[in-house]
Amino acid sequence: MTPEEFRQAGHQLIDWLADYQQGIAARPVQATTQPGAVRDALPKAPPQQPEPFAAVMADLDRVIMPGLSLWQHPRFFGYFPANAQPAGVLGDLVSTGLGVLGLSWQSGPAVTELEEVVTDWMRQICGLDAGWSGVIQDTASTSALIALISARERASGYALTKGGLQGGGPRLLVYVGEHSHSSVEKGALLAGFGRDNVRLVPCDAAYRLRPEALAAMVAADIAAGHRPCAIVATTGTTATTAIDPVGAIAKIARAHDIWLHVDAAMAGSAMILPECRWMWEGIEGADSLVINLHKWLGVPFDCSLYYVRDPEHLVRVMSTNPSYLQSSVDGQVKNLRDWGIPLGRRFRALKLWFVLREQGVAALQARLRRDLAHAQRLAAMVAATPGWRVLAPVSLQTVCVRYEPAGLTGAALDAFTQKWAEAINQSGAAYLTPAVLDGRWMVRVSIGALPTEAADIAAVWQTMQDAVACC
Ligand SMILES: Cc1ncc(COP(=O)(O)O)c(C=O)c1O
Repeated sequence: MTPEEFRQAGHQLIDWLADYQQGIAARPVQATTQPGAVRDALPKAPPQQPEPFAAVMADLDRVIMPGLSLWQHPRFFGYFPANAQPAGVLGDLVSTGLGVLGLSWQSGPAVTELEEVVTDWMRQICGLDAGWSGVIQDTASTSALIALISARERASGYALTKGGLQGGGPRLLVYVGEHSHSSVEKGALLAGFGRDNVRLVPCDAAYRLRPEALAAMVAADIAAGHRPCAIVATTGTTATTAIDPVGAIAKIARAHDIWLHVDAAMAGSAMILPECRWMWEGIEGADSLVINLHKWLGVPFDCSLYYVRDPEHLVRVMSTNPSYLQSSVDGQVKNLRDWGIPLGRRFRALKLWFVLREQGVAALQARLRRDLAHAQRLAAMVAATPGWRVLAPVSLQTVCVRYEPAGLTGAALDAFTQKWAEAINQSGAAYLTPAVLDGRWMVRVSIGALPTEAADIAAVWQTMQDAVACC
């Protein structure tokens, strides 16, 4: 593709994306495709000869689009929002179009320095003190893994430079709330702790980790000769957006020199609102934290901010320094390959920079406040309607509901709940996520797609009432 052909195709593609945004509400939210249909619609073998770009675009419409569930749809209430602010889409395009890689500061100085600037801007926007240093990782899952490896190395006196976890020493234990995200347990397993050494800490009636239960488990493990190594607290759990009491948990961590990682993948975005900062009161007692800006805030996937109190420790655990990556300025700069697992870095800071500058903090705050108000309004309507229940405190933008018709309990109620949620999803009218809470199926209505307005909340509530009447 020559630069001139690229220009033409690029203009066409931006038009196509703008049309997609403008027309998205008329499309079904959930993919209409059947399993295998996308694969079957594509040739089995790769093209040997060049095809016109128009043919690729045509297949985008014909084959790919019906095979997508639409996360940017105003009636998308599934999982958690994963917004793609248009300015961030353009930032990502620039990143890919420039085709630069941040292997070291020298390989793209602006890649590193813009990342330093925007992670520090976000630190300020979220009200974090100056003792935090940030870096962009791809996901909260990777960030949890990095935190747990860092914890392992601190507790084991840098065992990776010796026998690793096979070098003997006490059992290293990890404590996670029973409502923590699955990526946390996965991180603990990948970091080599072993499932037997991951303690599930019970939660209270509001699904928050119970600090007194944690303290008792830690004390018992120390008495048994084990070494409590890491605690993961969650600010905004996945099922219900419960808020673990970070301050009380941090006190336990500090008393026993245990690494505390705070998974604020979802609720971290809400920290741009001063009125929400009570949710991580005591956060300065943690060692690391992650915020997924690719969720509610709207920086296109992937953009997880990982902050640490002690960057020197992170660098000591993660650093590599082969001769071909060394440069004469290494003593004066950050080499962000030493702040995470991969060597290569995309220029992810660009999309965050674009979003922050195009939106400004005030507009981001206004949108999040809109969504918080929508959640409260929906919860109030649900709670006021006979047969319907709101199952968990609505601390953010997710409302967990169940319709419980008289006489329906147990497995029959579960089957009914799954049936009406599935009926809505299949209809394409809205997208909800059924999930299990306290051993029973319920439905999460997770608000916060960029174009979701009050009319969409009213519409999904009507759709839910219609669905239970029909199922
Ligand atoms: C609380 C929490 N932590 C971690 C994750 C994993 O996020 P990622 O996809 O960035 O790994 C999620 C995903 O929804 C989450 O809700």
